[in-house]
Amino acid sequence: MKRVFSGIQPSGIPHLGNYLGAIRNWVTLQEEHECIFCLVDLHAITVWQDPKELQEHTLQQTAVLLAAGIDPQRHILFNQSAVSAHARLAWIFNCVSRLGWLNRMTQFKDKAGKNRENHSAGLYVYPNLMAADILTYKATLVPVGDDQKQHIELANDIAQKFNHDYGTDFFPQIEPFTPPAARVMSLRDGTKKMSKSDPSEQSRIDLTDDADTIAQKVRRAKTDSDPLPSETEGLAERPEARNLVGLYAAVSSTPPEQVLAEFGGQGFGTFKSALADRLSTTIGPIADETRRLLDDRSHLLSVLRNGADRARAIAEPIVTEAEQLVGFLR
Ligand code: TRP
Repeated sequence: MKRVFSGIQPSGIPHLGNYLGAIRNWVTLQEEHECIFCLVDLHAITVWQDPKELQEHTLQQTAVLLAAGIDPQRHILFNQSAVSAHARLAWIFNCVSRLGWLNRMTQFKDKAGKNRENHSAGLYVYPNLMAADILTYKATLVPVGDDQKQHIELANDIAQKFNHDYGTDFFPQIEPFTPPAARVMSLRDGTKKMSKSDPSEQSRIDLTDDADTIAQKVRRAKTDSDPLPSETEGLAERPEARNLVGLYAAVSSTPPEQVLAEFGGQGFGTFKSALADRLSTTIGPIADETRRLLDDRSHLLSVLRNGADRARAIAEPIVTEAEQLVGFLR
């Protein structure tokens, strides 16, 4: 059985894109793997976070993950900062990783933009910490989005160089796992990803939206004035139509072809109300359970503490051995 590790930023209530792109896959992976799921608060502060908000966001993210079906008894769910082994191994990896490697990271370039000089050193070494997250548990299977694949390659480079430099085969090879996930786009602009940072709430569906809110957001979603095509080729130049069809396909676990076989030739009216129904069926129960869980903060905290205790029990012997390999007296 492969050990799975994945991390998610504690950014508050996730939206539909986070759910269909990541959370839903995590839930499925639990069936056949030993899973360790981590709320990466150390990564979060690579850009400024209001402390109260970071706490609140971590609890909200926890509530949604539990509501969506993460099982904290059979698997492990915790926040990164509670297990100090991550930071210790990350420091070692800061010394193994090369500036030349980090300079190639496209995510840093995208995030830092032109104002590179003014970003935190943490943002720059972010991928080294991510490598440490995974290898702290010697996890070998890592579900990530496409945007994180380069970081997994870097993690493998770091593991290999560590093994080479210290004459060992201590760290295993990591395999990224990128199931074909729906790319969920903004409801206001089919060419932009659905995003928390979009100022318009109408652009996204949050995992706490109730049926009425979902129906209203879907009704107002941008479309063009043509009827839906009968073949997927007909969606090529129609980003908004493609997004809604993709969403319908994703929440009902059917291929887009099938969706168009049913709705092709019709206007958006019927389709949008069918889509809203499907979305409410999927998200409604998660939203209800999330609200219920958020009323019991001490339960959420105890889930995280219990997860951290069990994570630590796996992490400590591994990171202590890595420290010994480096020559630290332990
Ligand atoms: N960087 C990942 C993201 O933004 C989150 C993350 C942190 C992660 N550590 C990880 C993902 C380790 C997988 C494995 O999505």
